[in-house]
Amino acid sequence: MGLIRQIEERDLRRVSALIQNTLLVSNLPDYDLETIGNLLAAFSPQQLHALTEKRRIYVYEEGGVMLGTIGLEGGRVCNLFVAPDRQGSGVGAELLGFVEQRARLEGYDTITLDSSLTAVSFYERKGYRRTGEQANRSFGRTVTMEKRLLG
Ligand SMILES: CC(C)(COP(=O)(O)OP(=O)(O)OC[C@H]1O[C@@H](n2cnc3c(N)ncnc32)[C@H](O)[C@@H]1OP(=O)(O)O)[C@@H](O)C(=O)NCCC(=O)NCCS
Repeated sequence: MGLIRQIEERDLRRVSALIQNTLLVSNLPDYDLETIGNLLAAFSPQQLHALTEKRRIYVYEEGGVMLGTIGLEGGRVCNLFVAPDRQGSGVGAELLGFVEQRARLEGYDTITLDSSLTAVSFYERKGYRRTGEQANRSFGRTVTMEKRLLG
């Protein structure tokens, strides 16, 4: 059984390594190398620390092993990554359900996100619908999605 908890200072290196490995294994097929390089830099331990100042970041840990991470900034889901060798075992769905519940408790009736091209069908399965597309010069194409949260 895994545990979801808020990120701590001592986790920064391991969470950064988890995200960077997932980018290289899971997202590289959908993005060019320059974009992946920019994303790797954006998730260094230092940048991750800076992100914790503006968003709440949670980790999914099992038996001392870091398996996933997710962020919530207002009513927006960010940085959902699951270790490649544990994808497809429910970790992503559990993390997403966790932040949806938090957003609901905080009074949001809609939750939004910018999905990687890699994850669009995962979010569609979880009830999100596409509302647009964005192309960022540094971070590549993303699909804007939203889901209404029911009381
Ligand atoms: C997208 C991601 C977070 C999903 O996490 P996961 O732990 O593999 O997902 P789960 O095992 O909880 O899967 C939940 C459901 O989505 C489906 N699913 C998972 N990944 C999928 C994908 N890439 N495409 C289509 N369906 C997917 C599963 O089959 C499962 O279906 P079910 O509800 O019918 O059983 C993970 O694959 C990942 O880290 N991807 C790379 C990083 C990324 O792009 N993150 C998103 C940034 S916006």
